[in-house]
Amino acid sequence: MKEKDLLGLLHLSAEEIDEILSLGLEMKRRLKSGDKTGSALAGKSAVTLFYENSTRTRTSFELAAKFLGAQVVNIAASSSSVQKGETLVDTGKTLDAMKNDFIIIRHPMGGAPKLLAETVKAHVVNAGDGMNEHPTQALLDMLTMRENFGRIEGLKVAILGDIRHSRVAKSNLFGLKKLGAEVSMYAPRTLIPEGLDRMGAKICSSREEAVEGADVVMGLRIQLERQKGGNFPSLGEYAKYYGANEELMKYAKPGALVMHPGPVNRGVELTCGLIDGETSRIEEQVLSGVAVRMAVLSLLAKEETAC
Ligand code: CP
Repeated sequence: MKEKDLLGLLHLSAEEIDEILSLGLEMKRRLKSGDKTGSALAGKSAVTLFYENSTRTRTSFELAAKFLGAQVVNIAASSSSVQKGETLVDTGKTLDAMKNDFIIIRHPMGGAPKLLAETVKAHVVNAGDGMNEHPTQALLDMLTMRENFGRIEGLKVAILGDIRHSRVAKSNLFGLKKLGAEVSMYAPRTLIPEGLDRMGAKICSSREEAVEGADVVMGLRIQLERQKGGNFPSLGEYAKYYGANEELMKYAKPGALVMHPGPVNRGVELTCGLIDGETSRIEEQVLSGVAVRMAVLSLLAKEETAC
């Protein structure tokens, strides 16, 4: 990796993504064998700075850093000096003054990690910024696909759900296209933002068209917290007309994988049968998350020693 920080996949090269996935696969093999002992971050410290809720991302970054030998401190914005009016930049400078090495940030404003990265010495890793990007989520999704298929090139990935509000959809689109996959998308028109077709997505006019011949069907969470309502009539109708179910999967390739970044609204984006079924890789994605975050943190640290 060439940069000090990981802010998104838009500006990462195919080679850099490939390097992360290759190391991530090695980390995942080690985790699966029960080996959680690494030393790439020995003597380093990491702070997770989360201004939005999280289970998977925050915990897996913490475990990843600890498995590599770092000291980790978690800051929830709700209990920090942000509540007293401290700015993001001043919070970052405070963490820098403590000789901290990594800031892993989740923030509701798109661009907040970039602003922080420009003002601190620590490596900044974007753990999800507003509706912009969630790079390590897309990397863990691609790691899961590569582990299952042995490649990303030539795969057809169908993404269904709340694409408008999804940083996961954008990071996956950027990453998957760079590695040669096809990406088709379907959602109510109210949940499809302008311009995704210009970024390489095939915007489909039915869920059957999106899923036709797919190797992977990815559901995305309906983000009610980012919506004012009126994008679809009700959750029940969303599930019936836009969600993925067993009938829809008949249009995909036999054995196509079912994925979802989580948290899932059960029975809305995906039926319970698909979530818990044999082709579901949702739990596998969670372990990929620890592995790919280990890869990202150790590559960023390696770059530092190389300089
Ligand atoms: N996928 C994801 O970002 O999950 P969390 O919100 O639980 O971190």
